[in-house]
Amino acid sequence: MDSRLNFSGKIAQGLNHLHFKSISSTNDFLEDLVLKENLKNGFVISADFQTMGRGMLNNSWFSESGKNLLFSRLYLPNHLEVQFQFFLSKVVASGVRNGIQQLLPGENVKIKWPNDIYVNTKKIAGILIKNHLKNKSIQQSILGIGINVNQQHFPAELNATSIATQTGKYSSVNQVFDIISEHLDEALGRLELANYEFINKNYHDNLLGLGTWMTYLHRGHSFEAKILEVTAEGQLLLEDRYGKKTGYEVKEIALVSVQPV
Ligand code: BTN
Repeated sequence: MDSRLNFSGKIAQGLNHLHFKSISSTNDFLEDLVLKENLKNGFVISADFQTMGRGMLNNSWFSESGKNLLFSRLYLPNHLEVQFQFFLSKVVASGVRNGIQQLLPGENVKIKWPNDIYVNTKKIAGILIKNHLKNKSIQQSILGIGINVNQQHFPAELNATSIATQTGKYSSVNQVFDIISEHLDEALGRLELANYEFINKNYHDNLLGLGTWMTYLHRGHSFEAKILEVTAEGQLLLEDRYGKKTGYEVKEIALVSVQPV
């Protein structure tokens, strides 16, 4: 469906996925739509192209038209207290990673903290989650997901790859959506069951750099450290060469290179 007109009635009849040729941002659109319509858990907005695709830390998300998977899914938790909100990030990252791993068997598909998806040293997918809180609980969440499917040329500074680059073949973006959605259903189901131990294990088993010495940058100072864990609050817990353990927030630290030292 390409028209923005007349979908209100269709939503009332149970339509749960709207696709646009071009949109500002699927995240922004869904955030706006949820205020106006009675949307069900799992409602999806997808697009061939975004004129203002949003990335983490106020960055933009660029994607050639029609080549990649760009979608936002509404998640309405049964009950998720705010202190568990990073578990949502962990399950979404794990779900997307597991789906990409199915599409790229034999490849090294990893989660780069907090929730980027990498194949070896290159980024294949990004996730942008926006939670809406009410009385210390998550009332609703917009899960924005961008996966590079058929695009093969990226600006060098993005350090990106795609399913087509990895396999040498084009894939159906709809089929990729179906596979990722199945894995997301499964991962979000684990959150509903409060299966936190499993969620943590699945996240850490696939976390890039866990226990590996790598170079990090904090306030202009670079140092070697290894990841001990990503805490329940979402902090990256690092241990440096002197044995000092420090937890960092996303904005405070950058990985200099995904190569081990
Ligand atoms: C990142 O910076 O890694 C997160 C990128 C998230 C991009 C997706 S594309 C679909 C959805 N709509 C947006 O505007 N952003 C997300």
